[in-house]
Amino acid sequence: MIESSAEPLRLFASDNASGVHPRIMERIAAANRGHCVSYGADPLTRRGEESIRRLTGGRTVDFLYNGTGANIVALGLCTRPYNSVVCSEEAHIATDECGAAERFTGCKLMTVPSHHGKLVPADLDGFADAFGVEHHVQPAVLSVSQSTELGTVYRPDELLALARAAHAIGLTVHVDGARIANAAVCVAREIGCSPRDAMHAVTRDAEIDFLSFGGTKNGAMVGEALVSYRETPDLKYVRKQAAQLASKMRFIGAQFEALAENDLWFQNAAASNDAARRLAERLDRLPEVKIVYPVDANAVFVKMPRHAIGPAQAERFFYVWDKENDVVRFMASFDSTADDVDDFVAGIARAIADGDSTHASEETP
Ligand SMILES: Cc1ncc(COP(=O)(O)O)c(C=O)c1O
Repeated sequence: MIESSAEPLRLFASDNASGVHPRIMERIAAANRGHCVSYGADPLTRRGEESIRRLTGGRTVDFLYNGTGANIVALGLCTRPYNSVVCSEEAHIATDECGAAERFTGCKLMTVPSHHGKLVPADLDGFADAFGVEHHVQPAVLSVSQSTELGTVYRPDELLALARAAHAIGLTVHVDGARIANAAVCVAREIGCSPRDAMHAVTRDAEIDFLSFGGTKNGAMVGEALVSYRETPDLKYVRKQAAQLASKMRFIGAQFEALAENDLWFQNAAASNDAARRLAERLDRLPEVKIVYPVDANAVFVKMPRHAIGPAQAERFFYVWDKENDVVRFMASFDSTADDVDDFVAGIARAIADGDSTHASEETP
C-alpha cells in the first residue's frame, strides 16, 4: 500500500481488498496474550467452532486457512478419484482455484451453464445416466455457491429444491459459502426474518451436507470454516493432508467468535449489500451503463463504454470480468461508505464524459 497522509481509498475491486473489522482485530490482539496449546485444542478455537456451529446449525465446524482449502477438503471428503463434481460454469472451484479441486480429489469437474450463476433441478437431468457405467466418471457431488460468483442469491426454496434433486440421485451437496453471510442478509430482508433464521434457511434448512463458511470476505483477516451437516470422521485427516491445519488456530477461532457475537457477520454483510445496492442505483442513472445481473448481494456487474474502463480503473481499480463484452465487476465491502459509492460513480461518469468529449472533438473537422 502506498503511504500517504490522505484518507486511504476504499476500492470496489473485491471484498478481499478491504481490511479487517476493528472488533475482529481487537480479538486477534487479545488472543496474542500468553501461550496456549496448539492445533486447535485451545479454548478460543472451541468457542469459535461452537459459535459457528450454533449460527449455521451444523454438526461440526473445523477451521481452515482459506476458501479454496475449505472447498477441497469438503470435496475430498465425499469423493474418490473416479467421481465427478457437478457445478456451474462460473463456480469458483472451476474458474479461480487453479485446478485445486481436480488435483486434490482427482475428480473431474462437470460444469453446467447457469442462470445468472444459479443452477436449477433440471440442470441435474442426465447425470444419473452415468451411474454404473464403468466408462464414465461417477457423479458424486453437487457444488453450488451462495451467494453466487455473479452476485445472485439462491432463495431458500430454490436451494432446497436443488439439494433434494441432488440427493434424489445420490449426490452430496456442498455449498461454497465464501459469501454466505451476504446471501443470508438478502433472504432476511426479503422475508423479514431474523439474521439467524435467515442463516439457517440458506444452510441447514436447505438440507445441504457441507458448507464452506466465509470469514475473510466479511471482515476477518484470514480463515474459513468448514461446516458439516453429517458425520465426517475423516475430516481431520483430510484437512491435515490438504495443508490446511493451522498450528496457531486460536487466532482463527477468535475471529469467528467475534464474527458470530452480536451478529457482526450480519452487520458486515448488510453494510456491503447496502453499498452494492446504492452503487447499482447510482449507476443505473447513467444511461451509458447497463447492469447485467440482479444485484442480490454485494456484487454489481455492469456493461460500460470501453473507452471509460481504463480511466475509471486508474482512479479506483476494479476488475474486468468479460473483456469482449466490456462487462466489469464491482464489489462492495463491509466498510464501503455512501461517500465511497458516490465518489466512485462520479469517477465513472467523468471517465465516460471525458471519453465522449474526446471522441466528439476527434470527429469535429
Ligand atoms: C465464490 C468464492 N469461493 C471461494 C473463494 C475463496 O477463495 P480463497 O481461497 O482465495 O479464500 C472465493 C474468493 O474469491 C470466492 O469468490
